[in-house]
Amino acid sequence: MRKFIALFVALMLPVAALAEVTTASTLTADANVTTVEMSDTLYGLFFEDINYGADGGLYAELLQNRSFEYEDILNPRVTDHYNGWGFNLAFGATGTATVQTENPLNENNPTYMRVNCTKGEYRFANLGYQATTFAGGIPVEEGKTYRCFVWMRNAGDFDGQVEIALTKRTGKSLAVPKRFTLTNEWQKYEVTFKAAHTEDAVLSFIMHGTGAVDFDMASLIPADAYGADWPNGGLRADLVQALKDLNPSFLRFPGGCVTEGSYYRENFYDWKDTVGPIEARKENFNTWGYMQSYGLGYYEYFMLSEAIGAEPLPVVHSGLLCQARDVKEAPLTIAETHEYAQDLLDLIEFANGDVTTEWGALRAEMGHPEPFNLKYLGIGNENWDQVYWDRFDILYKAVKTAHPEITIISSAGPVAEGDMPARAWRTIRSKYPDTIVDEHYYMDSAWFLNNVDRYDKYPRTTRVFVGEYACHEATQPNGRRPNNLYSALCEAAYMTGLERNSDVVVMASYAPLLAREGMQQWTPDLIWYNAREVLLTPNYHVQQMFASTAGDQVVASEMDSRNKLIYHVVTRTADRLYVKLVNVSAYADKMTVNLANVPDGMGAVTCLTGEKNDINTFQNKERIAPRTNEVTLENGALTIELPAYSATILTFKLK
Ligand code: AHR
Repeated sequence: MRKFIALFVALMLPVAALAEVTTASTLTADANVTTVEMSDTLYGLFFEDINYGADGGLYAELLQNRSFEYEDILNPRVTDHYNGWGFNLAFGATGTATVQTENPLNENNPTYMRVNCTKGEYRFANLGYQATTFAGGIPVEEGKTYRCFVWMRNAGDFDGQVEIALTKRTGKSLAVPKRFTLTNEWQKYEVTFKAAHTEDAVLSFIMHGTGAVDFDMASLIPADAYGADWPNGGLRADLVQALKDLNPSFLRFPGGCVTEGSYYRENFYDWKDTVGPIEARKENFNTWGYMQSYGLGYYEYFMLSEAIGAEPLPVVHSGLLCQARDVKEAPLTIAETHEYAQDLLDLIEFANGDVTTEWGALRAEMGHPEPFNLKYLGIGNENWDQVYWDRFDILYKAVKTAHPEITIISSAGPVAEGDMPARAWRTIRSKYPDTIVDEHYYMDSAWFLNNVDRYDKYPRTTRVFVGEYACHEATQPNGRRPNNLYSALCEAAYMTGLERNSDVVVMASYAPLLAREGMQQWTPDLIWYNAREVLLTPNYHVQQMFASTAGDQVVASEMDSRNKLIYHVVTRTADRLYVKLVNVSAYADKMTVNLANVPDGMGAVTCLTGEKNDINTFQNKERIAPRTNEVTLENGALTIELPAYSATILTFKLK
C-alpha cells in the first residue's frame, strides 16, 4: 500500500518539481563551416489596420470619426455619422445637429454636420476612442502641445463666434481656447493647445451666437507625434519606436483582408483614396468592423518604412474580394482587371517615378521628391484557384512588362497544408517561378514544433515569404488566445527552422502586429497598447531577439541531447557569431557549447524565460522580458544553463 501511495505521489509531482530535473547536452559548431547564405530581408513586419491598428492606434489622430463619414461595416449603406461625438452638451442651450451633403468640403468627403444653435451656448464635442457616457476621452498630458484644426462655414445666418476648446468632460477648460468668426466659405481654422493637466479630455465646439454653422474634418494630434510634419500630422511616437526596435527589414501593408475588402466592391482598398491632402482622402469602412480615415495612407506607409529602415512591401488586391468571407459582389471581370492593372503601374510611379510624372509629382507635393525605391509588390492576399490565377496573370504581366525590376509576391492561399496550397505551388512553379510565394498559417503549438523542419524539404530554387504566422493557443475564458511565453517559444523554435532555411525563406512576419486593448477583433497580437501605454508581448521579445541577431550565413552545427525539445541554429556575420537555443520543455538543461574558430573571450547571453503560461500585462509589463549577461568562452567552450521554457542567444565576436 505504501509503495502505491509513493508512486501516486510521484505521479502527482507538480510541473515545478519536474523542472528541477536537468539534462546535459552538447552543441558543436565551427564558425568557418557554413551551409547557406541567409536572406537579408528575413525578419520584417506585417501591418494591417485590424484591432484599431491605424485609427485609434499607430495614426496619432486623437479624434474618432473626425469627418462625420462613419459607416456600419455589416451594412455600409447604413451610416452612423454621429459616432464618437456628443451633441447638445450645455445646460440650457437648444439646437440641432443634422447630417448634410449639399456643397460638401469636397467630393471625397461628402457628409458634414450642420449645427443650428437656437438658444444659449450650444456645445458639442469629440470624445476620442473608448469613452463611455461618464468616463474616458482623449488622453492629454500635462505640459504637452496639441495641434488642432477644423473646417467650418457659416451656413448663412450665424451671428456670433465659434469657440474651440480642449476641456475636461465637465466642460472645464484644460488649455487656452480660441474663438473664430466665420465666412460663408469652407475654411480651415487652426489652434494649438498646451494641456494644463493630464486628463481624459474632449475637444469642444461652443457656439456663441444663434444660427447654423457647418463643421467638417476636425483633427487633434500631439505636436510631438512621429512625423508631425507629414501631411497626415504624424504617428504615435511610442508605437513607431516599438516597431523600429524590431529591426525590421521590410514592412508589408496595408493587409491582409483589409487589402481585399469584404462583401462589396466599394470596399476594395484603393491606394489612390489614401494619398493627397487628408481632407480629400475618401474614407472607407473596414473589414474588421470600423471605419478607416486613411489618415495613415500609402504615402505614410512609405514614410514609415523609410523611418524604420524597412523595404516597403505593398499588397494590392487581385480583383477579388476577400475569398474567405461571405462575398456579396462578383470579382472584377477580366476586362476590368486589364483596366485595374493601370492602378498598379500608377502605384509604382507614385513610389519610384520621376517628379515630372503625374504620380511622382504627387509624391513630391506631399513632401518626398526622392523616390521611395519600391522593389516588391504583392498581388492578392490569401487568394486561390483559377479565379485568382486568371487575374493574377494579367496584373503580373502588366507589372513585369513595364517594370521587370519589381519582384512580385504571389499567394499560396490561407492555409498551411493540403490540396489548396499544393495546387497553388504547382501553378507558381510552372508559370511564375520568379515570384516570392506568400504562405500564411495560424496553427497550434504542436504544429509549430512538428514543423520546424518544414522548409528543409522545399526545393532550393523556391522563395517563400511567410507573410502571416503566429502560434495559436487555446482560447482562454476571457475569450482571447493568449500571447503567453509558451506560444512565443514555439514560434522561436520554428524560427530556428526559418533561419536554417533562409536561402528558401527570404521573408517572414508575425501577424497581426498591433492591437488596442479592449478594441481587438483578433488575438494573439504582437504589440498591445491602450490610450497612453504600449505593452510588449513575449512574442514581441522573440521577434526582436531573433531579428537583431539574424546573421548572413548559417553555420553547420550539431547537437547531442536527450532532450528533444531543445531547438537550435548557429549563424554568423563577418564579425559576429550567434548561437540560438530554444528550450520548450519543462526541464532545465546544462548545455556545453563547443565552438571552433571563435576567439576566446567575453560574449553575451540573452535569455527570455519564465513560467510556461506567463503573459505580460499593463500592470506587469516586464514579467517576460529578455535579460542580458556576460559569458566567457574559454578554450573554445562554455557551459550554460538553459532554463526550462527559455530562448537563449549567445553572441561572440569573431574579430
Ligand atoms: O492577420 C489577420 C488576418 O488573417 C489577415 O487579415 C488575413 O490575411 C488572415 O486571414
